[in-house]
Amino acid sequence: MSTKDVKKTTEAQIAVHWQEEDYYYPSSQFTGQANLTDPSIRKRFSLDNFPDYYTEFAELLTWYKYWDEVLDTSDPPCWKWFKGGKLNASFNCIDRHLNKNKNKTAIHFVPELEEERVDHITYQELYVRVNEFAALLRDFAGLKKGDRVTIHMPMSAELPITMLACARLGVIHSVVFGGFSASACADRIIDSNSRVLISMDAYYRSGKLLNHKQNADEAVQISKNEGQIVDKVLVWQRYPGKYSSETPMVENRDFFVNDVIKNYYGERIEPEHMLAEDPLFLMYTSGTTGKPKGCQHSTGGYLAYVAGMSKYIQDIHPEDVYWCMADIGWITGHSFIVYGPLALCASTVIYEGVPTYPDAGRSWRIAQDLDVNIFHTAPTAIRALRKIGPDEPAKYNYHFKHMTTVGEPIEPEVWKWYESVVGKGKATIVDTWWQTETGGFLCSTVPGIEPMKPGSAGPGVPGIHPIIYDDDGNEITQSGIAGNICIQNPWPGGFQTIWGDRDRYVESYYARYCKDPNSKDWRDWPYLAGDAATRSEDGYYRILGRIDDVINVSGHRLGTKEIESAALVVEEIAEAAVVSVAHDIKGTEPDLYVALKPGIESSDEIVQKVSDTICSQIGKIAKPRKIWLVPDMPKTRSGKIMRRVLGSISNSQDVGDVMTLANPEIVETIKNMVQNT
Ligand code: PRX
Repeated sequence: MSTKDVKKTTEAQIAVHWQEEDYYYPSSQFTGQANLTDPSIRKRFSLDNFPDYYTEFAELLTWYKYWDEVLDTSDPPCWKWFKGGKLNASFNCIDRHLNKNKNKTAIHFVPELEEERVDHITYQELYVRVNEFAALLRDFAGLKKGDRVTIHMPMSAELPITMLACARLGVIHSVVFGGFSASACADRIIDSNSRVLISMDAYYRSGKLLNHKQNADEAVQISKNEGQIVDKVLVWQRYPGKYSSETPMVENRDFFVNDVIKNYYGERIEPEHMLAEDPLFLMYTSGTTGKPKGCQHSTGGYLAYVAGMSKYIQDIHPEDVYWCMADIGWITGHSFIVYGPLALCASTVIYEGVPTYPDAGRSWRIAQDLDVNIFHTAPTAIRALRKIGPDEPAKYNYHFKHMTTVGEPIEPEVWKWYESVVGKGKATIVDTWWQTETGGFLCSTVPGIEPMKPGSAGPGVPGIHPIIYDDDGNEITQSGIAGNICIQNPWPGGFQTIWGDRDRYVESYYARYCKDPNSKDWRDWPYLAGDAATRSEDGYYRILGRIDDVINVSGHRLGTKEIESAALVVEEIAEAAVVSVAHDIKGTEPDLYVALKPGIESSDEIVQKVSDTICSQIGKIAKPRKIWLVPDMPKTRSGKIMRRVLGSISNSQDVGDVMTLANPEIVETIKNMVQNT
């Protein structure tokens, strides 16, 4: 099939309607100070020089022992970067900065309550706290290199302290987003076989102190029912020395960190000398089937990659105050709140609460008072801030030199508001496209070199060589036509495997376009990102969204299957189908269609029950916009639910030709129900 004959997908049709936007150029003030302004980087990082160019990133770190081989491809597609090299992530993020910068703030923790003071933790204090907690983990919790630990904590300074203490010992951390339910936490405890859970008693959200410890109890119980025993729950306190939860502590299982740690005051732990390919952490993400995938990230490759991306794309200098508004419980927080900025000795901001609490000016007051100069957030937050406080940024005296958008496609209109109002026309913007699996960025402009284009992520970042394939494996080179975006080459930040499921790793990411499953040549193993994209003539990529059954809500991937399985837990439900609906703040949100079992009457109680079950099984983030109780699902003759038809109805679009369905008449019934509500 030639490139011209490629059938346009729905996404392609959207793409062809899009206008190319004009370039925006970084200011000379920005480029004058940027870490990377040498355009020859593109040549140096061309495929001819692969994989050696990545040593430039590895050189940003301090190694106990240099690597013997840059890339070992003997076991594709499980690539080993910097093989034989030894290092420790905690040492690289803390100890090595002490000589010159022990008195500098590593973490600014901003409590949600504005009357509470900001906690400024210096590198020296971080060093002390990480060491003491590492001693507790080793000697009290009995953890050692290679063990897995599940961490279910809110945004707090104690969260990176916990992660870095694990990294110091070589313990593999698995952080679960604090807003996820006990059941989602339990799934991750079970999959990673964690016998220690680290939690916190409470945290603030929109002015309310939420009881978080309760989730720990439920998660431990669910895990036990599934055969995974958690023998210790370590509980940090939101207010040290005071318990802020009503859930009782379980004797001999639950321990307050602030009590136990007294026995470890003054302890110092020699960082474990980890091999570059030893795992640093697991981060679970949604895939096409129900069970979340534990993406396993390495120590050396990952840290080298996030240090490189933080320096050259985030343009972080040690004197910068950097605020990434993501949650540490997502990959963005791991790479760009914790590991990247701290590896570069920057000051990183951690904000506990919602960006619009107590009012729409809060974010900008934080930026002003901490003198934040690099700002990083997602389109969903930008849309929310624009909606509720479009005039707020102008009221505050902050100066961003650089801003990031991440997590979902950003509409050019929203981008322009971000640039002119939040950035005050002075900040250089990067639209970074990447994934939990990829550790760091895949596409973005290099801010000191390349112009910005609203709505486009940009070219592959230096070292990343994207390619777009059609469904048959032909390369699509024509602009305006969408296809499946893949990466031709391995890169150090890429995950190593899915925890405990190598077959799924190969199947989900490499099988589709692998040229020869027996080949040990990386060129035969393009990485399938699972997004649709188009490339324009200038080589900039525009990402259109997922090609699989995953919904992106507020920049977070949720598996439609996960939501559907949660709905099916309700006994009255026979069938469930999730579709995504455009939402002006969140980007998209789920609409859920359910069909009841025969003989069951529709009722508001059932709707409520389904909604509650989804919130308790997954978390509030997955709560559907609407739950429609339908008499039947539109189905193909082979019995497959036609989600496409339901999606069109939810989005008030034309349903197209439905006459080939087994039950075309149902479409009109559902349409009347939805569109007349
Ligand atoms: O569809 C893409 C979208 O988010 C997905 C990755 O989600 P997750 O693993 O949760 O990681 C989010 C933070 C990296 C991608 O497959 N996505 C991410 N960034 C962008 C994006 N879509 C368009 N533009 C982006 N900048």
